Amino acid sequence: MKTRKTYKMISSLMVILAILTIPFLILRHNTGYTSIWSRQQAQNFKCTKENTAPNINPNFKLTAPNLWVWDTWPLVKKDGSLAVVNGYKVIFALTASRNVGWNKRHDVAGISYFCSTDGENWVYKGLAYNVEDALGSRQWAGSAILDENGMVQFFYTATGRKGEAVRTFEQRLVKTKFSINVDKGGVHITNCSKHQVILEPDGVYYQTMQQAKGPIIYSFRDPYFFEDPKTKKDYLIFEGNKGGKIEKMKPENIGDKLFRKNHIAPRGVENFNGNVGIAVAQNKDLTRFKLLPPLLEAVGVNQQLERPQIVMKKNKYYLFTISHKFTYAQGLNGVDGLYGFCGNSLRSNYKPLNGNGLVITNPTNDPYQTYSWYLVSGHDVLSFINEYHFNGQLRYGGTFAPTLQISLKGYKSKIIGRLGEGVVTPAH
Ligand code: FRU
Repeated sequence: MKTRKTYKMISSLMVILAILTIPFLILRHNTGYTSIWSRQQAQNFKCTKENTAPNINPNFKLTAPNLWVWDTWPLVKKDGSLAVVNGYKVIFALTASRNVGWNKRHDVAGISYFCSTDGENWVYKGLAYNVEDALGSRQWAGSAILDENGMVQFFYTATGRKGEAVRTFEQRLVKTKFSINVDKGGVHITNCSKHQVILEPDGVYYQTMQQAKGPIIYSFRDPYFFEDPKTKKDYLIFEGNKGGKIEKMKPENIGDKLFRKNHIAPRGVENFNGNVGIAVAQNKDLTRFKLLPPLLEAVGVNQQLERPQIVMKKNKYYLFTISHKFTYAQGLNGVDGLYGFCGNSLRSNYKPLNGNGLVITNPTNDPYQTYSWYLVSGHDVLSFINEYHFNGQLRYGGTFAPTLQISLKGYKSKIIGRLGEGVVTPAH
């Protein structure tokens, strides 16, 4: 009798508790709740067989022999699945002539496209637009969607201003759209619309160039299109920095009470204020967007959360971003890597995968051999060959790296395979 009564009491208490938490969950979803990647979480980065890529085989082929090729993204449908245009897969990548120095390539970057019937052998097709029409003194990473009318909705970062005498690092998000046609020679881009600036930092949620300080360039770049399958609303996710005056960090940026007792954050770490930004589309043409508070912030942790993406798996939202060792705040020992977070809705309390967020990194004997990991089809990870060693000598790759395959299960990830250079496969 007694146990039945207690059982009844416990279950009514649980029901009350559940009812009480619903408004919080709704609030978190609808208001500007920003998840935190704390100093407490961003600890203990270790190379394991689950997260470490094998060494590059130095006999790789160059996909475009005259070009440096780096950040890469495929043409996808609105749901994120690989698009196929009359039998062709298409990928876009940042490129620059190999005649410029490796580090100079960012100053002259443009976006090229490649096509392939097998997702393995890519044919270089040229720049994706007329340089004269593009905005910025150079163009940086973005994303591309094949919409329901067969048009490509194309988002990229315009860095600097056309014709500027001295290169600046001003970054604005730009949109254009074009047709993509197929003939014997593969795919062709035609009818490119006027390139339009769709987002600039507001200085409140997102830092402007004027507010930025310090030697690491500020960020307002790398637009990634995401349609939330639960609400069908369209968003752009991007890399930002916290705007406004730099105040003291929130205690949560450091960690929980117990951690804070023993952890002294060095002075100035609040200047490492990377975030993952988000803006919601205001029209069907995807030319008007409204900035919202960031999805995730890494204040006191890391200054750059580059090329963020959201990938759905089993109703969960996986947020990925790439970052560098040198952009970590003092006192943290991070690595160049792909980092992941998991939440139950688009705006939710994202928790780092594997405890600290690290999903993929390079082997310790060549910690910069690849970079700019980008998830395709929920399991293939594209990246490019960066700075690697051959017979003890430093070399630059500038081409597609072997694709890695990962598995995602709840809050855990694992490298489970390696494919050829630049290989993409459909979702399974
Ligand atoms: C990452 C990145 C991107 C940027 C591009 C510029 O590799 O820093 O954030 O768009 O490279 O070259």
